[in-house]
Amino acid sequence: MTKPQKQIHLAAHFPGVNNTTVWSDPKAGSHIEFSSFAHFARTAERAKFDFLFLAEGLRLREQGGKIYDLDVVGRPDTFTILAALAAVTERLGLTGTINSTFNEPYEVARQFASLDHLSGGRAAWNVVTSWDAFTGENFRRGGFLPQEERYSRAKEFLATTNELFDSWHGDEILADQASGEFLTDAKAGSFVHTGQHFDIHGQFNVPRSPQGRPVIFQAGESEEGREFAASSADAIFSRYSALEEGRAFYTDVKNRLAKYGRSHDELLILPAASFALGDTDEEAEELALEVRRQQVSGATALKHLEFVWNRDLSSYDPEGPLPDIDPDVSDDHISKGRAQVRMYRDPVAVAREWRELASANKWSIRDLVINTGNRQTFVGSPETIARTINEYVQADASDGFILVPHITPTGLDDFADKVVPLLQEQGVFRTEYEGSTLRDHLGLAHPDQTAGEQRAAS
Ligand SMILES: Cc1cc2nc3c(=O)[nH]c(=O)nc-3n(C[C@H](O)[C@H](O)[C@H](O)COP(=O)(O)O)c2cc1C
Repeated sequence: MTKPQKQIHLAAHFPGVNNTTVWSDPKAGSHIEFSSFAHFARTAERAKFDFLFLAEGLRLREQGGKIYDLDVVGRPDTFTILAALAAVTERLGLTGTINSTFNEPYEVARQFASLDHLSGGRAAWNVVTSWDAFTGENFRRGGFLPQEERYSRAKEFLATTNELFDSWHGDEILADQASGEFLTDAKAGSFVHTGQHFDIHGQFNVPRSPQGRPVIFQAGESEEGREFAASSADAIFSRYSALEEGRAFYTDVKNRLAKYGRSHDELLILPAASFALGDTDEEAEELALEVRRQQVSGATALKHLEFVWNRDLSSYDPEGPLPDIDPDVSDDHISKGRAQVRMYRDPVAVAREWRELASANKWSIRDLVINTGNRQTFVGSPETIARTINEYVQADASDGFILVPHITPTGLDDFADKVVPLLQEQGVFRTEYEGSTLRDHLGLAHPDQTAGEQRAAS
């Protein structure tokens, strides 16, 4: 018997504070005005995507003591955007990235339960811990937590919000809520939580929401991050979108599920993926290169090198050779509020390798950054892209992709019109939404289902 084809999950990442986004293109629109978010969400819903995804940065990034303004700067508040989008969409899931290091469980639980009500069961929470003390300076508690403690806080944070969501779970309370009768039961919303990070008790004041609990995403990739996802998340937002690295990551995290008594399909792996779509493969290759050149201006290339060198390189010509001085390996000081710095574990070795590459290929600084930076995940005609996405999903490199277009807000339009119909023809992507909640779209059990019901449904 042949294995049935996996159904693909697709989501739309609102482009923004990253160097994928080309804001200088005349086709690019606002990253702040609601009309951009609305267009993007409506396109994703027209294409029957599972959800829209918002990343979050809580401080303006800096480099060399100045605000880093070569990428988009600034982003309105996540809950406000998602609540507004709930009103202009009907089925699309709404995923917000919200930090567990700086927030409090009670307020975050209220916000997600409210979003789940307003949207009719479409809320999801990407639980992140954030990586830097620089961002932490914006918050009352000040200082920062070492990684281990951040994850211990994240775990307790999530467990505490679950207690709050479930505080309206008694059968009598649900019956009262469903019948709309006056609630006389003083138990509604009662909670007591005593733990290492939170010591709170009281009454949760948002009634049980349509999904019971929001869908939980996780995005960190350290050992602690992977364990957190395996124990507690419904989906992972990863950056492993290439075939082989995707398969390795997929196998790694799926293999961790059993020890938490969870099955293989209780955790979805959804990497971020960019694309260059053309009418033909050749046209797409040309477009891919053109976009890479737009993404990496001379100024961007120099700043990119500064992450590795940890030095001010503004006096260098981006069209000239790489610096022959070595990176400064003392504490990171050039760049604040970015994750990339952490990726270069041995900057001196990276610099040596890059110099060798540049000299062998006669590359300038800018050529080097263009050629070694992230290439689009999928490049080709609609047929090529549809076929490749399906191959990756069937090969267990992922369960689908969170697409990051390079143009806001129209960068998804062609994908919706040209690639999605081909995936539908192949029978691997829905032609209509079957359910109304995000849990339905993702094939995840409802927390109120009994174990027996869950087995029967699967
Ligand atoms: C693919 C990916 C996306 C992330 N997106 C965000 C984000 O939007 N906002 C944020 O504050 N942190 C984000 N993070 C950071 C994680 O929450 C985490 O703090 C960081 O990766 C450090 O944890 P780790 O060592 O487990 O990776 C992201 C991480 C990854 C890997």
